[in-house]
Amino acid sequence: MVAHVAETGTTATTPAAPEGTSETRWWREAVVYQVYVRSFADANGDGIGDLAGVRERLPYLHELGVDALWFSPWYPSPLADNGYDIADYRSIDPDFGTLEEAEQLIADARGLGIRTIVDIVPNHVSNEHPWFREALASVPGSPARERFWFRPGTGENGELPPNSWQSIFGGSAWTRAGDEGEWYLHLFTPEQPDLNWTHPDVWDEHDDVLRFWFDRGVAGIRIDSAALLVKDPQLADEAADSAPGEHPFTDRDALHDVYRRWRAIADGYPEPRVLVGEVWLPDAERFARYLRPDELHTAFNFDFLAAPWEPGPMRTSIDSALAAHAPVDAPTTWVLSNHDVTRVVTRYGRADTSFAFESRRAGTPTDLERGTRRARAGALLAMALPGSMYIYQGEELGLPEVEDIPFERRKDPMWHRSGGLDPGRDGCRIPLPWAGDRPPYGFSRDGAARAWLDQPDGWAALTVEAESEDATSMLSLYRAGLRLRKSNPWSGDGALRWLPAPDTALAFARGDSFACFVNFGPAALELPAGADVLIASNDLEGGALPQDTTVWLRQPADRIG
Ligand code: GLC
Ligand code: CA
Repeated sequence: MVAHVAETGTTATTPAAPEGTSETRWWREAVVYQVYVRSFADANGDGIGDLAGVRERLPYLHELGVDALWFSPWYPSPLADNGYDIADYRSIDPDFGTLEEAEQLIADARGLGIRTIVDIVPNHVSNEHPWFREALASVPGSPARERFWFRPGTGENGELPPNSWQSIFGGSAWTRAGDEGEWYLHLFTPEQPDLNWTHPDVWDEHDDVLRFWFDRGVAGIRIDSAALLVKDPQLADEAADSAPGEHPFTDRDALHDVYRRWRAIADGYPEPRVLVGEVWLPDAERFARYLRPDELHTAFNFDFLAAPWEPGPMRTSIDSALAAHAPVDAPTTWVLSNHDVTRVVTRYGRADTSFAFESRRAGTPTDLERGTRRARAGALLAMALPGSMYIYQGEELGLPEVEDIPFERRKDPMWHRSGGLDPGRDGCRIPLPWAGDRPPYGFSRDGAARAWLDQPDGWAALTVEAESEDATSMLSLYRAGLRLRKSNPWSGDGALRWLPAPDTALAFARGDSFACFVNFGPAALELPAGADVLIASNDLEGGALPQDTTVWLRQPADRIG
């Protein structure tokens, strides 16, 4: 497996522009790297990644060539859902460090031209958040309970939940407060009570939290579960096929008022802050409504993430994303993985290469060599598409999903609440391997406490150190691809134009001399004569493009379609 890097372009880095004068539309083409702090790098040897670890590794991220870092929640949390249960939105989990360190990290990163995006979870708080403690300690009907969804039960003695809503992690979405009390709503775990977005306190609190982080120099927020905030006040049961906007807790129209208000706050800064939504919706038109000019700037393209590694569905996904974003003038995003989904090299090595929470099962066989080859081709495809790109830590190393975590070491409530049917998300959250030939692979120093999730044996070839020395590694491919991407080989606005290609391939041009070819089929694909190879995800075969390989070409302007 050899990557051809015929030309690496310039080594330009993002300039660190002072606030107020910088290019304010940076997010339209940004490469955003998702940092899952707990598994990134552990500086103090307690087996848990921390902010000091990220600060030490900023040069690595700079060299990789990313424009921004998105930090999964770094706030104090009892860890019922690994940090997505937040007890205090204005400070840092002591396992990770202090608020001062976060401010220093934001500033240090900015000094390297790297912006910071923090994760905001507005749908629910931790059951240890002061608001929920107060609500539990107070009586039914009290103002403290109004900030949540407390309701009497049904059944003779209120022993049944208020309605049939199911938690996204399995089981009822309602838990009873005490033996005889009211029930409260939680779309995720019982430790994540849902906020009531018809309550003015909830709005005001979020305005303030946004400003808190924006005032500390963060460039934007990633909005967790962004399509779930607003609930049907009647708490109607889910219908088999509700009309758009009428599902009782997903994608309700009143949500858009929240994001309009947040956009106004974000736009109030000299360098406008950016809103990125986690919007899982199958309907591209409904999805794009979140990206209207006075709402969110971008949202994760999960349709692309979930698409199988096949030319037809991939092309359909790309076309539908571009078509849905154009009317609202929002850039598409290209996402291959995150902390919730199966690692790319594992998924692409399976018989079914698509992703769906509902269908993933433990023990599904995979061919990692094949998956890795496809993931390389997929990475160059994603980098070549117009818009911004997200990279989840470890994706650039080609880390596989770890699937044999002993039951007693598993942390993810998705696994626990499904009774083990869903393999959960721990396997994509394993601490990164940095160096050396055995755990902790430089994640912690030798002799440190056991990592919060064990790293497997056999990752010696996947460390940053090993991959840095190997021109054929996934890391070398990501570095070279991102460097070339930054040199803007498509020039100008570079909108995408499909080129003629067999059914087993995708080919497109951008600008007047750039073309990208992806071959999915077993027969090698002849490439246009007279083109320069800028980069390829694997060896070419005598000038032809083999299966599961992507190539970027520079062609004379008059030769391109
Ligand atoms: C989002 C997060 C996921 C979390 C859930 C509940 O989907 O990405 O990790 O479990 O929201 O907050
Ligand atoms: Ca630590």
